[in-house]
Amino acid sequence: MPIEKDTLPENPAESNTEDKNVPVQRIVSGIQPSGRLHLGNYMGALKNWIALQDRYESFFFIADWHALTTNYEDTSPIRQNIREMLVDWLSLGLDPEKCTIFLQSDVLEHAELNLLLSMVTPVSWLERNPSYKDQQTQITGRDLSTFGFLGYPVLMSADILLYRADHVPVGLDQLPHLELAREIARRLRHFYGPVVPEPLPLLTPTPRLLGLDGRKMSKSYKNCIYVGDSSAEIWDKVRPMVTDPARVRRSDPGDPDKCPVFNLHQSFSPPETVQEVDKGCRTAGIGCIDCKKLLVGHIETILQPAREKRQEISARKGFLKDVLQEGGKTASGEARQTIREVRRAMRLPDEDLFA
Ligand code: ADP
Ligand code: TRP
Repeated sequence: MPIEKDTLPENPAESNTEDKNVPVQRIVSGIQPSGRLHLGNYMGALKNWIALQDRYESFFFIADWHALTTNYEDTSPIRQNIREMLVDWLSLGLDPEKCTIFLQSDVLEHAELNLLLSMVTPVSWLERNPSYKDQQTQITGRDLSTFGFLGYPVLMSADILLYRADHVPVGLDQLPHLELAREIARRLRHFYGPVVPEPLPLLTPTPRLLGLDGRKMSKSYKNCIYVGDSSAEIWDKVRPMVTDPARVRRSDPGDPDKCPVFNLHQSFSPPETVQEVDKGCRTAGIGCIDCKKLLVGHIETILQPAREKRQEISARKGFLKDVLQEGGKTASGEARQTIREVRRAMRLPDEDLFA
């Protein structure tokens, strides 16, 4: 699959200001409200969304139906998770004046397109999806042999194709899903002619941030720093992090390539700091605690302004509701248009049935 590695690919509408007929490109992405936003989500997706909202026609949504594919028994946290996710997004800089922010379940056309796509999607495509198999083995204690879980990427394809998106900014783990969305778009074209474009992924320079334990940072591994964590909580998580196991004493030189703290430095610290700790570690010139303090300082540079904005947002009564209501209206307008086009292409009944 062709991948855009560039954080900010050139937008034809901007590069060619002479030609006003070149349409602004469109992006769409979502995150499941299955917990709070962590730094992996931020570095892999949200940071890109915030940068891209200035240059693309952008649709960002909270994928609450997707959260049900794995959390269908105990649904009690979902409402709180939606509210927190929205606050996290807005406090980090997603701006409802620049992009459309909405809740997936507010736009019922996601369900209609999901149903129509499910008619043309072979089950074998879903069974061979690597994250279907991975998650079934990784998530224990829950029965994931459900129709909804198998169909996760069909719903995700519907989310994307519904907005006729050109690009989808996501982290590395979402690429197999996106490949399926492209295959489904091609299949629609094969059966019914051109209906929706084939979307391309858009990756950030950090498409896979590692967590406190050196594995991929993920809610399910409990190895996350959350964007809503306080300074004290972050220090309590970073201080005990295991560094290069061979570096036992302060005077032992270490190997930064074996250290998850160094890995985080590479994503959060400026190049001078990365160089300084790399050299300091190899020569035992810096101790692990000082190295960790430097890291936390750079993480704080991102999170402190977000903390202040969080207070501000929480004080604005009715703001969150308005954001989702307005976003839902804009998204619904676009979604309805696609559904009309899909129904027409598929020769399904529409308002002209008896005309
Ligand atoms: P989690 O694995 O914690 O459940 P999600 O699957 O909800 O995270 O991911 C939401 C978005 O964040 C997706 O675009 C995903 O690719 C991205 N993402 C998740 N974890 C990471 C990570 N460790 N590094 C980079 N991007 C990530
Ligand atoms: N699967 C994504 C995740 O785990 C969430 C998602 C649902 C999504 N629909 C999408 C991402 C459409 C991009 C486009 O976070």
